[in-house]
Parts: sequence; C-alpha cells; structure tokens
Amino acid sequence: MTEEKEEKRPRKRLDPKKKATILVAALVIVAAGGLGFWKWHETPGFCAAICHNMDQYLATYLEPQNAPGVDKYGNPVSNTNAMMSVLHRSNATTGKSEILCLDCHHAVIGEQVSEGMYWATGNYLDPLDERVGGHLTAWWKEDSTRFCANENCHAYLLGEDGLVDRSKLEQSTWMMEFNPHSQYHEAQQMECTACHKGHRASVQNCTSCHEHENIALPDGWITATESKELMEKTFVVD
Ligand code: HEC
Ligand code: HEC
Ligand code: HEC
Repeated sequence: MTEEKEEKRPRKRLDPKKKATILVAALVIVAAGGLGFWKWHETPGFCAAICHNMDQYLATYLEPQNAPGVDKYGNPVSNTNAMMSVLHRSNATTGKSEILCLDCHHAVIGEQVSEGMYWATGNYLDPLDERVGGHLTAWWKEDSTRFCANENCHAYLLGEDGLVDRSKLEQSTWMMEFNPHSQYHEAQQMECTACHKGHRASVQNCTSCHEHENIALPDGWITATESKELMEKTFVVD
C-alpha cells in the first residue's frame, strides 16, 4: 500500500531554467575540482605528498643553490649546483623564473596511470632504481637527449631534425680545457644523463678512462670512480 502511495506522490519537476543552472553549476564544480587537481599535480609538492619515495626528489630539488648539500641517497654533495634539479629550479640565465618537476619530467597519461597503479598496489621500490638516458623519455617515445634539449629547453643545441646537434654541443663548451662534449669519440656518444645528474652530483664520466689526466671538475661534480662507489654503496650489485 505504501508503495502505491509513494508512486502516486507527485514528483517534483525542475523547471528547465533551474535545471540548466544546476547543470552549469555542477560542471563548474567538477571542472574547478579537476583544474585544482591538475594545478596541484603540477606543483613540486604533489609528487611527494602522494608517494613517500618521492620525498628525496623534492628535498634535493628544494636545496639552496651553490652550497654544500646532500643527494637523493643522503650522500654529501660539495656544491648543490652539480645536481641539475637544483641548478635549474631557478635560473637567471634560462629566463624562466622556475623550472618545475614536470618541466623536466613531462607528464604522460600512460606513465601517470602506471605510477597510480604502483601507488595503489604498494608495489614500488624505495629507493627507486636510477633512471638514465632512454628510461627518462621511454613514455614519451622520444630520443633520450630530448629530456635535456627540446623546443622549450636548450633549443639552441638542436639541429634541423629536432635532435641535439653534437657539433653545436661541442662548440658550446669549446673553452673548457678538456671539452666534455668533444666529438673525438664520435662513435661512442654518451647519454647526457651519464654525466648530468638530476638528484645527485653530476659525474665527469670521461674520467672512467681519462682518469690520470687531472681533468678539472666543475664545482660539486665527481669522477666516474666516485660515482661507481656511491652507487655500489646504495644498491647491492649482484
Ligand atoms: C662526459 C660528460 C658529459 C656529457 C655526456 C654531456 N655533458 Fe653537458 N656538460 C658537461 C660538463 C662537465 C659541463 C660543464 C658544467 C659546468 O661548468 O658547470 C657541461 C655543460 C653543459 C651545458 C652548459 C653549457 C654552457 O653553455 O654553459 C649544457 C647546456 C649541456 N652540458 C648540455 C648537455 C647535453 C644536452 C648533453 C647530451 C646531448 C650533454 N650535455 C652531455 C659534461 C657532459
Ligand atoms: C632539471 C631537470 C629536473 C628537474 C627539475 C627534476 N628532475 Fe627528477 N630527474 C632528473 C634527471 C636527470 C633524473 C635521472 C636520475 C638522476 O640524475 O638523479 C631524474 C630522476 C628522477 C626520478 C627517477 C628515479 C631516479 O632516481 O632516477 C624521480 C622519481 C624524479 N626524478 C622525481 C623528481 C621530482 C619529484 C622533481 C621535483 C620535485 C624532479 N624530479 C625535478 C631531472 C630533473
Ligand atoms: C672507453 C675509454 C674512453 C672513454 C670513456 C673516453 N675516452 Fe677519450 N680516449 C680514450 C683513449 C684510449 C684515447 C687515446 C687513444 C686515441 O686517441 O684514441 C682517448 C683520446 C681522447 C682525445 C684525444 C687525445 C687527448 O687526450 O686529448 C680526446 C679529445 C678524448 N679522448 C675525449 C674524450 C671525451 C670528451 C670523453 C667523454 C665524453 C672520452 N674521451 C671518454 C679512451 C676513452
């Protein structure tokens, strides 16, 4: 009986105008929420707030420039400018006031989803394996050098094919006594990130062979041997 009653109760109908207003309001709320989320997602704090194994990446990034500091594994770094995330965070020479995590690590939907899965399942590593070269651009399906040089960053190094022109790169540091970008060993070009490290001291990787030549290291940089020791200390190599 009660059922019948309920059925017969006149249902409220919204007049079309009101309906439209509510619909618009709802859309605005959803969009604002989404936008808010997206804005937050873009901020450096986001990654670390969601995933605690990102803490050390945020921490290195936020260290004062041109000062002693620590790397992502807690090792001392004699000059934080040797960590590219610190050097680039704010850089008068780039003309950009602030380079955020996602200016280097472009957000790609596939990667975000995969990170989300790891997060949801708790199935992630801490500390993370180090990403170098092609690992960093695998999700964008682009050449590894485009992590450092693309239309937005260091574009002056690009050749007509949109990839780093190694002779331009060589010229950019011609004044260094030992030019790290020398194309002498053209056949064995190194990845940019074999030397330029984001969250630990950068490595003068030519020293793996040219070790007795007293190559001057930029402030805070380390040799290939020091880098190897540091990684062996952090990760059990089997
Ligand atoms: C063998 C190690 C090594 C490799 C590989 C390497 N670099 Fe460098 N790079 C250096 C060193 C050392 C400096 C000098 C840094 C300093 O003085 O602080 C430098 C400086 C630079 C600079 C600043 C130059 C300037 O005008 O002051 C840029 C930009 C750069 N590298 C980009 C790249 C890119 C892009 C790649 C990959 C295509 C790359 N590097 C590969 C070692 C390397
Ligand atoms: C100037 C470019 C740059 C910026 C800005 C930057 N990174 Fe990186 N990041 C790198 C490079 C290069 C690597 C490769 C590993 C390394 O050199 O430490 C890397 C690696 C990583 C990795 C992979 C794990 C690993 O150890 O390789 C994570 C996670 C990461 N960064 C998070 C962040 C977060 C979070 C921020 C912002 C708080 C950030 N990065 C800002 C350049 C950058
Ligand atoms: C696998 C070992 C190895 C690595 C790594 C290596 N080199 Fe060399 N390099 C040599 C050897 C051996 C010679 C001397 C024989 C020759 O001329 O080929 C040499 C010679 C050179 C020369 C000419 C002679 C000189 O000493 O002035 C230059 C320039 C040079 N290397 C630059 C570099 C640069 C820049 C890097 C890093 C991007 C690098 N090398 C990395 C082994 C290496």
